[in-house]
Amino acid sequence: YVIGIDLGTSAVKALLLERNGEVRAEASRSYPLYHEHSGWSEQQPDDWVTGTIEALQELMQVSGAGADAIEGISFSGQMHGLVLLDGEGNPVRNAILWNDTRTTAECREIDAVLGDRLLRITRNPALEGFTLPKILWVKKHEPIAFAKSELFLLPKDYVRYRLTGQLHMDYSDAAGTLLLDIAGKSWSAEVLSAFGLVASFCPPLAESHACVGTLLPEQAARCGLSAETKVFAGGADNACGAIGAGILEEGLTMCSIGTSGVILSYEQGSSRDYEGKVHFFNHGKQEAFYAMGVTLAAGYSLSWFKNTFAKDESFNDLLAGAGDVEPGANGLLFTPYLVGERTPHADSVIRGSFIGIDGSHERTHFARAVMEGITFSLNESVDLFRAAGKTVDTIISIGGGAQNPVWLQMQADIFNANVVALENEQGPGLGAAMLAAYGSGWFDSLDACAERFVKRSAVYTPQPSAAAAYEGLFRIYQQVYAQTKAMN
Ligand code: XUL
Repeated sequence: YVIGIDLGTSAVKALLLERNGEVRAEASRSYPLYHEHSGWSEQQPDDWVTGTIEALQELMQVSGAGADAIEGISFSGQMHGLVLLDGEGNPVRNAILWNDTRTTAECREIDAVLGDRLLRITRNPALEGFTLPKILWVKKHEPIAFAKSELFLLPKDYVRYRLTGQLHMDYSDAAGTLLLDIAGKSWSAEVLSAFGLVASFCPPLAESHACVGTLLPEQAARCGLSAETKVFAGGADNACGAIGAGILEEGLTMCSIGTSGVILSYEQGSSRDYEGKVHFFNHGKQEAFYAMGVTLAAGYSLSWFKNTFAKDESFNDLLAGAGDVEPGANGLLFTPYLVGERTPHADSVIRGSFIGIDGSHERTHFARAVMEGITFSLNESVDLFRAAGKTVDTIISIGGGAQNPVWLQMQADIFNANVVALENEQGPGLGAAMLAAYGSGWFDSLDACAERFVKRSAVYTPQPSAAAAYEGLFRIYQQVYAQTKAMN
């Protein structure tokens, strides 16, 4: 067996994968988020460690697998979160997470200091969610904590460090820090020195499938595992999600709708220039990359709608009702900017809207408009990929948005591409387990592993009349942002 651990924002999930690709057991533990001020989002790094150990204990108990049968463990983690360690390897403060937006001033400082060098080296613009702005925030606002900080890690790297005693970061996660030379695969001395940071502040880099150690004996004993179990570096949750969905060759794109939504497309090289309009990160597959656009409030918009206006209805009933409404929601349009937007507007203050309300509209029209608005927002990323010369004709859909046939058909119609659903989709945890499987030598390549483990179920093809209607509506949707911006 191998184990994949997905260190998410609300919970950690561990899964035990058999050699035939079946998931034999799963266990998870949740942990709190702290929002001390509006826009702040923090977690306690040791909550992740405790949660992971408890989830592993449970996984070993419920699966009945023997400790010696576990060949490897790997990780998928929430990206960008800043963990600062002192000289003893202890966190100096809470971790500042990817969805924390306190760092607008630091982003402008990064722009002013680096100008177009930032995009050339890191391939990404300065966004509040990324790690370097968080480092600069602590440096400015908490000088005592910063003075104690000797090294930084990302969330899953901290958990791996606690389990193995080894400090590492893989390229796919390092790519989201704004400190990595993405094409050169090294920490950027130019960016570090521009902000007075020393090279020893960054951990050693590793490939996602690289073995970076074994479990510390006392931690192995707590988890019910053997101290000989190999630990593989793992990757960013989006990279692992892509691996778990088999996004391992040019021409494949993924749509993931969870709380936030992601459109991610495989890139074999680093030459395609998106001018920073979408994120560009190292993949968990060696020497590969991916481009990615993010909708901040995807599934979140629909849960907000349900909790606010349809508390008594089940999700299934709500979505079934929305399925009976024609494409276009009878003239009702929604923009999902409930917590701002990432792609294409990178605007943390813009807010959402319903437009075109008619006296005949019922709750089901609003529900359909919400689903369409979320999908239009994701289509902005598809549009940017196409504008940069990519062919987007096959999209593997995962997450909550892939659980519902109405939404899958809507994705095919709005993206104007074939949308593929997976059998027993397991998200980033499966990608993490696949990295451990490949690292342990079960397969010669990640591609061979995906061929065996990632199984497609249904394909949804665009319906011409719906696709044509959506194309017109999408152009109107795209104008709403500029028209409503002055309201905030
Ligand atoms: C990616 C991002 C999120 C987190 C969620 O840039 O901020 O998708 O990775 O865990």
